[in-house]
Amino acid sequence: VVASESQFNILIIDDNAAEGKELQQILTGQGYGSVKVTPDSQQGLECLLAGWPDLVLLDLHMPAPTGFDILRRLRLSFGTTLACPILALTADATRLARREALQRGVSDFLAKPADTDEILLRIKHFLELRKLQKDLEYANRTLEEKVRDRTQELWEANVEVANRLARAAEYRDDQTGQHIQRVADLTWRIALQLGMPEDQSGLIRLAAPLHDVGKIAIPDAILLKPGPLSKGERETMKRHTIIGGGILAHGKSEILRIAEMIAVSHHERWDGTGYPFGLRGDAIPLVGRILAVADVFDALISERPYKTAWPKERALDEIRSCSGSQFDPQVVEAASVVLQDFPTVALSGRTVSTAERR
Ligand SMILES: [Fe+2]
Repeated sequence: VVASESQFNILIIDDNAAEGKELQQILTGQGYGSVKVTPDSQQGLECLLAGWPDLVLLDLHMPAPTGFDILRRLRLSFGTTLACPILALTADATRLARREALQRGVSDFLAKPADTDEILLRIKHFLELRKLQKDLEYANRTLEEKVRDRTQELWEANVEVANRLARAAEYRDDQTGQHIQRVADLTWRIALQLGMPEDQSGLIRLAAPLHDVGKIAIPDAILLKPGPLSKGERETMKRHTIIGGGILAHGKSEILRIAEMIAVSHHERWDGTGYPFGLRGDAIPLVGRILAVADVFDALISERPYKTAWPKERALDEIRSCSGSQFDPQVVEAASVVLQDFPTVALSGRTVSTAERR
């Protein structure tokens, strides 16, 4: 890639104002559009700290800050990878001085007074490298942006599908969708209260609405039955956990994997008498233990065909009385803290009856 001279910014820092000016004129004469020169080394340093040009021509021997001081300061701010090539202007550098300059990030040396053709060739060479470096940086940035956009799109698609699947489940017995959303919200708050990281808690909130997705497969005669269920009907009803797990199984997205865990385990009980597997204590996934509390609490404060909506305090007392039997005591404790801020007004969430019994 051959660079166009006019697109580069060059900074000359040389306390010998006449020599700096001469170099500037030579470069401008060659079509370099933006060549700044300063005899004030402090000002030069500030320019570099504020933003990088494409090439720096730096005199090493100046009153403080010297060229070496500037290199040291740049190293402090930017580490070992300086953003652009620095060519040291030097009349009589010793081998030691040259080595030190190279170690501090100088790319090459231009002898003063130098042969104009040599200066121009070297500058051209370094600017071509600089151009390649900029092109590469641009390509990397563009690629990173593309990857970020695609990842975001993919994430949004995941969330969208999960939400729509949850809505499909809601249509069966919670036409307002309020119960599911409140349970998801409460589950999220309890997870945070338990000290789960924010990103993980956020995923749990997105997965929670899918906890009853298995009800899609439960016959209306059972799901919507207003009266008590027979033993056989109860067994059929319990299958919504396994069916939900089956619907969500082998998900690639983390939302689906958490949702599967919740769907299968949200009716397990701390004492091992729950379903579908009768898991006990810590063997029940924590997300399932949290959702169990949120789900029952929300059912208690909601109006149902067979019960009025309970006030928050009564529902919380009921939850507390089941701590250690139905619920994980730690989750109950976290829920008690979270629910202190919960609205006290009675809610009527489900508009269609549900025959699910706990
Ligand atoms: Fe359920």
